[in-house]
Amino acid sequence: MAKINKITLNRYRNFKSYEIAFNEKNNIIYGSNGSGKTNILESISLLGKGRGFRNSSIEDLIYKNENEFLVESEIEKDFDNHNIKIYSKLTNNKYKKISSVNNEVSKEASVFLEQTLSFLYFLPEMERLFVSSPSYRRNFIDKLIFSENKNYNKLMNKYKKNLTERNKILQLNNFDSNWISAIENEIAISGLEIYRLRNEKIEILNNELLNLNKLTFYPFSVKFEHKDIFYKNNIDKSEYLKNLKNFRNIDSQYGGTKIGPHKSDFLAKINSEISASKLSTGQQKTLVLITIYAQCKHLINQKNIKPILLFDEICSHLDETNRKILLELSKGFDIQFFFTGTEKSLFSFMSTNTNFYNISNI
Ligand SMILES: Nc1ncnc2c1ncn2[C@@H]1O[C@H](COP(=O)(O)OP(=O)(O)O)[C@@H](O)[C@H]1O
Ligand SMILES: [Mg+2]
Repeated sequence: MAKINKITLNRYRNFKSYEIAFNEKNNIIYGSNGSGKTNILESISLLGKGRGFRNSSIEDLIYKNENEFLVESEIEKDFDNHNIKIYSKLTNNKYKKISSVNNEVSKEASVFLEQTLSFLYFLPEMERLFVSSPSYRRNFIDKLIFSENKNYNKLMNKYKKNLTERNKILQLNNFDSNWISAIENEIAISGLEIYRLRNEKIEILNNELLNLNKLTFYPFSVKFEHKDIFYKNNIDKSEYLKNLKNFRNIDSQYGGTKIGPHKSDFLAKINSEISASKLSTGQQKTLVLITIYAQCKHLINQKNIKPILLFDEICSHLDETNRKILLELSKGFDIQFFFTGTEKSLFSFMSTNTNFYNISNI
Protein backbone atom coordinates (compact mmCIF):
# COMPACT_ATOMS: atom_id res chain seq x y z
CA MET A 1 0.00 0.00 0.00
CA ALA A 2 0.97 3.59 -0.34
CA LYS A 3 1.99 6.53 1.74
CA ILE A 4 1.79 10.20 0.97
CA ASN A 5 5.18 11.93 0.68
CA LYS A 6 3.96 15.44 0.13
CA ILE A 7 1.01 17.54 -0.83
CA THR A 8 0.84 20.91 -2.58
CA LEU A 9 -2.28 23.02 -2.32
CA ASN A 10 -3.03 25.62 -4.98
CA ARG A 11 -5.99 27.95 -4.68
CA TYR A 12 -7.54 25.40 -2.37
CA ARG A 13 -9.82 26.48 0.56
CA ASN A 14 -7.83 29.06 2.61
CA PHE A 15 -4.51 28.15 0.94
CA LYS A 16 -3.33 30.21 -2.01
CA SER A 17 -0.22 28.12 -2.34
CA TYR A 18 1.18 25.76 0.28
CA GLU A 19 3.33 22.64 0.35
CA ILE A 20 3.96 20.10 3.11
CA ALA A 21 6.31 17.11 3.07
CA PHE A 22 5.01 14.36 5.32
CA ASN A 23 6.48 11.82 7.68
CA GLU A 24 5.81 8.21 6.71
CA LYS A 25 4.37 7.54 10.19
CA ASN A 26 2.88 10.35 12.28
CA ASN A 27 1.97 13.82 11.12
CA ILE A 28 0.61 16.33 13.55
CA ILE A 29 -0.90 19.48 12.15
CA TYR A 30 -1.60 22.05 14.82
CA GLY A 31 -2.71 25.65 14.91
CA SER A 32 -5.46 27.98 15.98
CA ASN A 33 -9.14 27.66 15.06
CA GLY A 34 -9.71 28.41 11.41
CA SER A 35 -6.06 28.07 10.43
CA GLY A 36 -6.88 25.31 7.93
CA LYS A 37 -6.13 22.04 9.75
CA THR A 38 -9.31 20.28 8.67
CA ASN A 39 -8.83 21.71 5.17
CA ILE A 40 -5.44 19.98 4.92
CA LEU A 41 -6.89 16.64 6.03
CA GLU A 42 -9.75 17.13 3.61
CA SER A 43 -7.29 17.72 0.74
CA ILE A 44 -5.74 14.32 1.52
CA SER A 45 -9.17 12.68 1.60
CA LEU A 46 -9.79 14.04 -1.91
CA LEU A 47 -7.28 11.49 -3.20
CA GLY A 48 -10.02 8.95 -2.52
CA LYS A 49 -13.30 8.66 -4.37
CA GLY A 50 -15.86 11.45 -4.12
CA ARG A 51 -15.67 15.00 -2.91
CA GLY A 52 -13.63 14.44 0.23
CA PHE A 53 -14.56 13.50 3.78
CA ARG A 54 -16.92 16.46 4.20
CA ASN A 55 -18.60 15.78 0.86
CA SER A 56 -18.41 19.49 0.09
CA SER A 57 -19.33 21.05 -3.20
CA ILE A 58 -16.38 21.61 -5.54
CA GLU A 59 -17.07 25.38 -5.49
CA ASP A 60 -16.41 25.41 -1.74
CA LEU A 61 -13.00 23.82 -2.25
CA ILE A 62 -11.84 26.65 -4.50
CA TYR A 63 -10.05 29.57 -2.84
CA LYS A 64 -12.43 32.53 -2.72
CA ASN A 65 -12.68 34.54 -5.94
CA GLU A 66 -10.66 32.00 -7.90
CA ASN A 67 -12.16 29.63 -10.42
CA GLU A 68 -10.20 26.43 -10.00
CA PHE A 69 -8.17 24.51 -7.46
CA LEU A 70 -5.33 22.05 -7.76
CA VAL A 71 -4.16 19.61 -5.10
CA GLU A 72 -0.98 17.90 -6.17
CA SER A 73 0.62 15.08 -4.26
CA GLU A 74 3.39 12.57 -4.44
CA ILE A 75 2.51 9.11 -3.25
CA GLU A 76 4.89 6.23 -2.83
CA LYS A 77 3.89 2.68 -3.57
CA ASP A 78 6.32 -0.24 -3.53
CA PHE A 79 9.27 2.19 -3.71
CA ASP A 80 7.85 3.92 -6.80
CA ASN A 81 6.72 7.52 -6.68
CA HIS A 82 3.58 8.68 -8.44
CA ASN A 83 2.35 12.17 -9.12
CA ILE A 84 -1.35 12.62 -8.38
CA LYS A 85 -3.26 15.72 -9.34
CA ILE A 86 -6.77 16.46 -8.14
CA TYR A 87 -8.36 19.52 -9.70
CA SER A 88 -11.63 21.14 -10.57
CA LYS A 89 -12.97 21.38 -14.08
CA LEU A 90 -15.90 23.47 -15.19
CA THR A 91 -18.04 21.94 -17.93
CA ASN A 92 -21.51 23.19 -18.82
CA ASN A 93 -21.49 25.42 -15.77
CA LYS A 94 -20.94 22.48 -13.48
CA TYR A 95 -17.79 21.68 -11.55
CA LYS A 96 -16.34 18.21 -11.61
CA LYS A 97 -13.43 16.71 -9.73
CA ILE A 98 -10.73 15.29 -12.00
CA SER A 99 -7.94 12.96 -10.85
CA SER A 100 -4.78 12.24 -12.79
CA VAL A 101 -2.02 9.76 -12.07
CA ASN A 102 1.34 10.67 -13.60
CA ASN A 103 -0.53 13.15 -15.79
CA GLU A 104 -2.88 10.53 -17.14
CA VAL A 105 -6.64 10.83 -16.74
CA SER A 106 -8.20 7.46 -17.47
CA LYS A 107 -10.25 4.63 -16.05
CA GLU A 108 -6.99 2.83 -15.22
CA ALA A 109 -5.77 5.87 -13.32
CA SER A 110 -8.91 5.93 -11.15
CA VAL A 111 -8.71 2.20 -10.56
CA PHE A 112 -5.07 2.60 -9.54
CA LEU A 113 -6.03 5.28 -7.01
CA GLU A 114 -8.92 3.23 -5.69
CA GLN A 115 -6.75 0.18 -5.19
CA THR A 116 -3.77 2.04 -3.82
CA LEU A 117 -5.34 4.26 -1.20
CA SER A 118 -7.82 3.48 1.51
CA PHE A 119 -8.80 6.04 4.12
CA LEU A 120 -10.27 5.81 7.58
CA TYR A 121 -11.15 9.05 9.24
CA PHE A 122 -12.58 10.70 12.29
CA LEU A 123 -14.26 14.11 12.16
CA PRO A 124 -15.27 16.01 15.34
CA GLU A 125 -18.99 15.70 14.61
CA MET A 126 -18.64 11.92 14.75
CA GLU A 127 -18.42 12.11 18.53
CA ARG A 128 -22.21 12.51 18.35
CA LEU A 129 -22.60 9.27 16.43
CA PHE A 130 -24.51 7.43 19.17
CA VAL A 131 -26.93 10.28 19.83
CA SER A 132 -27.53 11.14 16.16
CA SER A 133 -30.19 9.68 13.93
CA PRO A 134 -29.85 6.10 12.62
CA SER A 135 -28.77 7.31 9.17
CA TYR A 136 -25.46 8.52 10.67
CA ARG A 137 -24.79 5.11 12.18
CA ARG A 138 -25.69 3.32 8.94
CA ASN A 139 -23.38 5.66 7.11
CA PHE A 140 -20.59 5.03 9.62
CA ILE A 141 -20.82 1.24 9.19
CA ASP A 142 -21.12 1.65 5.41
CA LYS A 143 -17.95 3.75 5.26
CA LEU A 144 -16.07 1.05 7.15
CA ILE A 145 -17.29 -1.58 4.70
CA PHE A 146 -16.30 0.66 1.79
CA SER A 147 -12.75 0.94 3.15
CA GLU A 148 -12.23 -2.72 2.26
CA ASN A 149 -14.82 -3.29 -0.43
CA LYS A 150 -14.70 -0.72 -3.19
CA ASN A 151 -17.77 -2.24 -4.89
CA TYR A 152 -19.94 -1.53 -1.88
CA ASN A 153 -20.91 1.95 -3.06
CA LYS A 154 -22.12 0.51 -6.34
CA LEU A 155 -24.26 -2.00 -4.46
CA MET A 156 -25.75 0.77 -2.29
CA ASN A 157 -26.43 3.00 -5.30
CA LYS A 158 -28.12 0.18 -7.15
CA TYR A 159 -30.28 -0.62 -4.14
CA LYS A 160 -31.32 3.03 -3.68
CA LYS A 161 -32.00 3.49 -7.38
CA ASN A 162 -34.36 0.51 -7.35
CA LEU A 163 -36.15 1.80 -4.23
CA THR A 164 -36.77 5.10 -6.01
CA GLU A 165 -37.99 3.22 -9.07
CA ARG A 166 -40.40 1.13 -6.95
CA ASN A 167 -41.74 4.25 -5.22
CA LYS A 168 -42.41 5.85 -8.59
CA ILE A 169 -44.25 2.81 -9.86
CA LEU A 170 -46.38 2.67 -6.71
CA GLN A 171 -47.54 6.22 -7.35
CA LEU A 172 -49.06 5.19 -10.70
CA ASN A 173 -52.75 4.32 -10.74
CA ASN A 174 -52.29 1.27 -12.85
CA PHE A 175 -49.00 -0.47 -12.84
CA ASP A 176 -47.68 -3.50 -14.54
CA SER A 177 -47.24 -6.19 -11.89
CA ASN A 178 -44.39 -7.83 -13.81
CA TRP A 179 -42.54 -4.54 -13.79
CA ILE A 180 -42.81 -4.03 -10.04
CA SER A 181 -42.00 -7.69 -9.35
CA ALA A 182 -38.82 -7.38 -11.38
CA ILE A 183 -37.78 -4.28 -9.42
CA GLU A 184 -38.64 -5.92 -6.10
CA ASN A 185 -36.56 -8.90 -7.09
CA GLU A 186 -33.57 -6.59 -7.62
CA ILE A 187 -34.28 -4.87 -4.29
CA ALA A 188 -34.35 -8.20 -2.46
CA ILE A 189 -31.07 -9.35 -4.01
CA SER A 190 -29.13 -6.21 -3.14
CA GLY A 191 -30.99 -5.71 0.16
CA LEU A 192 -29.98 -9.16 1.38
CA GLU A 193 -26.40 -8.56 0.31
CA ILE A 194 -26.29 -5.26 2.22
CA TYR A 195 -27.72 -6.97 5.33
CA ARG A 196 -25.15 -9.72 5.01
CA LEU A 197 -22.18 -7.39 4.61
CA ARG A 198 -23.27 -5.18 7.49
CA ASN A 199 -23.80 -8.16 9.78
CA GLU A 200 -20.42 -9.49 8.86
CA LYS A 201 -18.89 -6.06 9.58
CA ILE A 202 -20.50 -5.87 13.01
CA GLU A 203 -19.27 -9.32 13.92
CA ILE A 204 -15.72 -8.50 12.84
CA LEU A 205 -15.77 -5.20 14.71
CA ASN A 206 -16.99 -6.93 17.87
CA ASN A 207 -14.14 -9.43 17.70
CA GLU A 208 -11.49 -6.81 17.01
CA LEU A 209 -12.88 -4.62 19.79
CA LEU A 210 -12.48 -7.50 22.23
CA ASN A 211 -8.81 -7.80 21.28
CA LEU A 212 -8.21 -4.07 21.45
CA ASN A 213 -9.81 -3.97 24.88
CA LYS A 214 -7.26 -6.41 26.22
CA LEU A 215 -4.48 -4.38 24.65
CA THR A 216 -5.51 -0.99 25.96
CA PHE A 217 -7.15 -1.89 29.28
CA TYR A 218 -9.99 0.28 28.15
CA PRO A 219 -12.54 -0.02 30.99
CA PHE A 220 -15.54 -0.80 28.78
CA SER A 221 -16.41 -3.76 26.69
CA VAL A 222 -18.33 -2.77 23.59
CA LYS A 223 -20.68 -4.77 21.48
CA PHE A 224 -22.42 -3.53 18.37
CA GLU A 225 -25.90 -4.80 17.56
CA HIS A 226 -27.84 -4.68 14.35
CA LYS A 227 -31.36 -3.39 14.96
CA ASP A 228 -33.95 -3.85 12.26
CA ILE A 229 -37.68 -4.50 12.57
CA PHE A 230 -37.81 -6.60 9.45
CA TYR A 231 -34.53 -8.40 9.31
CA LYS A 232 -34.18 -11.72 11.05
CA ASN A 233 -31.32 -14.09 10.67
CA ASN A 234 -31.76 -16.38 7.70
CA ILE A 235 -34.45 -14.35 6.04
CA ASP A 236 -34.48 -15.54 2.47
CA LYS A 237 -35.39 -13.98 -0.81
CA SER A 238 -38.89 -15.41 -1.04
CA GLU A 239 -39.77 -14.06 2.39
CA TYR A 240 -38.26 -10.69 1.50
CA LEU A 241 -40.34 -10.60 -1.70
CA LYS A 242 -43.49 -11.62 0.15
CA ASN A 243 -42.99 -8.75 2.56
CA LEU A 244 -42.34 -6.21 -0.16
CA LYS A 245 -45.53 -7.31 -1.89
CA ASN A 246 -47.56 -7.07 1.32
CA PHE A 247 -46.23 -3.59 1.92
CA ARG A 248 -47.12 -2.23 -1.51
CA ASN A 249 -50.33 -0.59 -0.30
CA ILE A 250 -48.80 1.00 2.76
CA ASP A 251 -45.73 2.06 0.82
CA SER A 252 -47.74 3.73 -1.92
CA GLN A 253 -49.46 5.90 0.72
CA TYR A 254 -46.28 6.48 2.65
CA GLY A 255 -44.31 7.33 -0.48
CA GLY A 256 -41.33 5.23 0.51
CA THR A 257 -40.32 1.70 1.38
CA LYS A 258 -40.97 0.75 4.99
CA ILE A 259 -38.71 -2.25 5.11
CA GLY A 260 -35.12 -2.91 4.18
CA PRO A 261 -31.54 -2.09 5.13
CA HIS A 262 -32.14 1.65 4.57
CA LYS A 263 -34.17 1.48 7.82
CA SER A 264 -31.65 -0.37 9.97
CA ASP A 265 -29.94 0.99 13.01
CA PHE A 266 -26.81 -0.01 14.89
CA LEU A 267 -26.57 0.22 18.64
CA ALA A 268 -23.57 -0.24 20.85
CA LYS A 269 -24.01 -1.91 24.24
CA ILE A 270 -21.48 -1.15 26.95
CA ASN A 271 -20.54 -3.90 29.41
CA SER A 272 -23.67 -5.75 28.21
CA GLU A 273 -25.89 -3.31 30.08
CA ILE A 274 -26.11 0.31 28.98
CA SER A 275 -26.39 1.91 25.60
CA ALA A 276 -23.43 3.91 24.27
CA SER A 277 -25.68 6.97 23.98
CA LYS A 278 -25.71 7.18 27.80
CA LEU A 279 -21.95 7.61 28.07
CA SER A 280 -20.34 11.02 28.41
CA THR A 281 -19.29 12.93 25.29
CA GLY A 282 -15.62 12.10 25.83
CA GLN A 283 -16.39 8.42 26.42
CA GLN A 284 -18.51 8.28 23.27
CA LYS A 285 -15.75 9.91 21.29
CA THR A 286 -13.23 7.37 22.60
CA LEU A 287 -15.61 4.59 21.60
CA VAL A 288 -15.93 5.84 18.01
CA LEU A 289 -12.16 6.18 17.73
CA ILE A 290 -11.54 2.71 19.14
CA THR A 291 -14.03 1.33 16.63
CA ILE A 292 -12.08 2.97 13.81
CA TYR A 293 -8.90 1.39 15.18
CA ALA A 294 -10.73 -1.95 15.23
CA GLN A 295 -11.49 -1.62 11.53
CA CYS A 296 -7.91 -0.53 10.92
CA LYS A 297 -6.61 -3.67 12.62
CA HIS A 298 -8.93 -5.81 10.53
CA LEU A 299 -7.81 -4.14 7.28
CA ILE A 300 -4.14 -4.68 8.07
CA ASN A 301 -4.34 -8.22 9.45
CA GLN A 302 -7.10 -9.76 7.36
CA LYS A 303 -7.28 -7.75 4.17
CA ASN A 304 -3.67 -6.81 3.57
CA ILE A 305 -4.73 -3.18 3.24
CA LYS A 306 -2.77 -0.43 4.95
CA PRO A 307 -5.19 2.43 5.40
CA ILE A 308 -4.21 6.05 5.87
CA LEU A 309 -5.75 7.49 9.04
CA LEU A 310 -7.10 11.02 9.16
CA PHE A 311 -7.92 11.96 12.74
CA ASP A 312 -9.30 15.47 13.02
CA GLU A 313 -9.35 17.14 16.46
CA ILE A 314 -9.07 13.88 18.31
CA CYS A 315 -7.90 15.35 21.61
CA SER A 316 -10.73 17.73 22.47
CA HIS A 317 -13.18 16.42 25.08
CA LEU A 318 -10.79 13.64 26.04
CA ASP A 319 -9.18 13.37 29.44
CA GLU A 320 -5.50 12.51 29.64
CA THR A 321 -6.09 8.78 30.11
CA ASN A 322 -8.27 8.40 27.04
CA ARG A 323 -6.01 10.69 25.00
CA LYS A 324 -3.03 8.53 25.91
CA ILE A 325 -4.88 5.28 25.17
CA LEU A 326 -5.82 6.54 21.72
CA LEU A 327 -2.50 8.09 20.79
CA GLU A 328 -0.49 5.16 22.20
CA LEU A 329 -2.60 2.80 20.11
CA SER A 330 -1.29 4.44 16.94
CA LYS A 331 2.22 3.24 17.82
CA GLY A 332 1.19 -0.37 17.23
CA PHE A 333 0.22 0.29 13.62
CA ASP A 334 2.75 0.51 10.83
CA ILE A 335 0.68 2.96 8.80
CA GLN A 336 0.57 6.69 8.10
CA PHE A 337 -1.37 8.90 10.51
CA PHE A 338 -2.52 12.49 10.23
CA PHE A 339 -3.66 14.15 13.45
CA THR A 340 -4.83 17.69 14.04
CA GLY A 341 -5.17 19.67 17.25
CA THR A 342 -5.03 23.20 18.55
CA GLU A 343 -1.92 22.65 20.71
CA LYS A 344 1.33 20.87 20.06
CA SER A 345 1.53 19.88 23.74
CA LEU A 346 -1.48 17.54 23.38
CA PHE A 347 0.79 15.23 21.39
CA SER A 348 3.95 15.74 23.44
CA PHE A 349 4.54 12.07 24.23
CA MET A 350 4.60 11.14 20.55
CA SER A 351 8.13 11.87 19.50
CA THR A 352 9.58 9.12 17.37
CA ASN A 353 8.69 9.12 13.68
CA THR A 354 6.59 12.20 14.14
CA ASN A 355 6.52 15.48 12.23
CA PHE A 356 4.86 18.56 13.69
CA TYR A 357 3.51 21.35 11.50
CA ASN A 358 2.43 24.66 12.91
CA ILE A 359 0.06 26.19 10.37
CA SER A 360 -1.13 29.13 12.46
CA ASN A 361 0.78 31.84 10.69
CA ILE A 362 1.05 30.88 7.09
N1 LIG B 1 -13.07 28.31 -0.37
C1 LIG B 1 -12.45 28.97 0.61
N2 LIG B 1 -11.71 30.07 0.34
C2 LIG B 1 -11.06 30.74 1.32
N3 LIG B 1 -11.13 30.40 2.62
C3 LIG B 1 -11.85 29.32 2.94
C4 LIG B 1 -12.55 28.56 1.96
N4 LIG B 1 -13.18 27.55 2.58
C5 LIG B 1 -12.90 27.67 3.90
N5 LIG B 1 -12.10 28.73 4.12
C6 LIG B 1 -11.58 29.19 5.40
O1 LIG B 1 -10.89 28.14 6.04
C7 LIG B 1 -10.98 28.31 7.44
C8 LIG B 1 -11.43 27.04 8.11
O2 LIG B 1 -10.49 26.10 7.94
P1 LIG B 1 -10.52 24.76 8.79
O3 LIG B 1 -9.57 23.84 8.12
O4 LIG B 1 -11.90 24.30 8.99
O5 LIG B 1 -9.92 25.29 10.17
P2 LIG B 1 -9.39 24.47 11.42
O6 LIG B 1 -7.91 24.76 11.50
O7 LIG B 1 -10.10 25.06 12.60
O8 LIG B 1 -9.69 23.05 11.18
C9 LIG B 1 -12.01 29.38 7.71
O9 LIG B 1 -11.35 30.53 8.14
C10 LIG B 1 -12.69 29.57 6.38
O10 LIG B 1 -13.08 30.89 6.19
MG1 LIG C 1 -11.04 21.84 12.11
